[in-house]
Amino acid sequence: MSEKQPRVMSGMRTTQSLHIGNYFGALKNWLELQKQYECFFGAMDWHAMTNAYKKPKEIDEYTKDIIADWIAWGLDPEKNVIFIQSMVPEHLELSMIFANLTPMGWLERVTTWKDAKEELQQSDAYNLGRFSYPVLQTADISIYQASLVPVGKDQVAHLEISREIVRRFNRLYKAKLPEPKPLLTETPLITGTDGRKMSKSYGNVLPLTAEPKKIEKLCKKMVTDPQRVTREDPGNPEVCPVYDFHKLYSTNEDLQWVMKGCTTAGIGCGDCKLKLAANINEKMADALAKKKDLLKDSRKLDSIIVEGSRRARTEAQKTLAYVREMMGFSDYSPWGDS
Ligand code: TRP
Ligand code: SF4
Repeated sequence: MSEKQPRVMSGMRTTQSLHIGNYFGALKNWLELQKQYECFFGAMDWHAMTNAYKKPKEIDEYTKDIIADWIAWGLDPEKNVIFIQSMVPEHLELSMIFANLTPMGWLERVTTWKDAKEELQQSDAYNLGRFSYPVLQTADISIYQASLVPVGKDQVAHLEISREIVRRFNRLYKAKLPEPKPLLTETPLITGTDGRKMSKSYGNVLPLTAEPKKIEKLCKKMVTDPQRVTREDPGNPEVCPVYDFHKLYSTNEDLQWVMKGCTTAGIGCGDCKLKLAANINEKMADALAKKKDLLKDSRKLDSIIVEGSRRARTEAQKTLAYVREMMGFSDYSPWGDS
């Protein structure tokens, strides 16, 4: 295979709807990458199944919701290949091939397994699918022969295994699948509405897209500087989660308004939160309208998904044919060419 433009591939598990942590941690970066590279973005429902297999219907709904969010926030379904993992069965075929050349020890040592093992044993996600998660993830990338993988720090260990697996494959079969490299996303630490790390399990997330009323409600509930007990007490924005959100959504002018008003007790926390909600809602308005439109007429979204998954599958089939050829497996093409 000759020198090609590097391909980008990334994905998100579809176990929850997107919150702003997903935006600043991943989607924002994808929106930049689409300008420059050929990109494959997958809604990873098989990965969601590794721990949410008791609620497949929910996974299915989140899958749609997430793809609607991607597009609503500006991911272009024509420029990029946007697909659902389970619509492209070649992921699983390649995963099975890779599974054979992945020693148990590699998977046992990966931190996302080792550190979560006890917790997993107590839960109902101590299973083979969860154990082999990084193998499937490797197939996700290699099935498109992608070499650049935008991910957060938490995924670096997986990418290391991916490189090992691909190297081993290439050595064994004299193949030339690209070794995937992480494109690290530098992200601000996103705090939740209660000041702890934003996480669904803490119930402190700010949704990426929501109705204005809901945003207002969430803002009102936010934790503030604990030292500021009454309206008359001056506060310190630097220790206040509300101010953290202002930094993400508000203009410099508004930041100064908060800083001055808070430290001099010129404004109350209620004023500060209302301003925040207004700013968030303003930034969200376009995407919210677009997302609602996509979800209202499900034929539109469905056809985007079908079209994207078809394009993905065409590429995946090419890679799988190459993989079989390098392994020396015969090509009987029992189902014809299509
Ligand atoms: N494991 C990734 C996460 O939890 C999601 C994912 C699945 C992925 N397959 C991928 C990311 C392939 C990049 C490439 O964030
Ligand atoms: Fe926080 Fe704003 Fe209240 Fe100051 S005024 S403590 S920044 S919510």
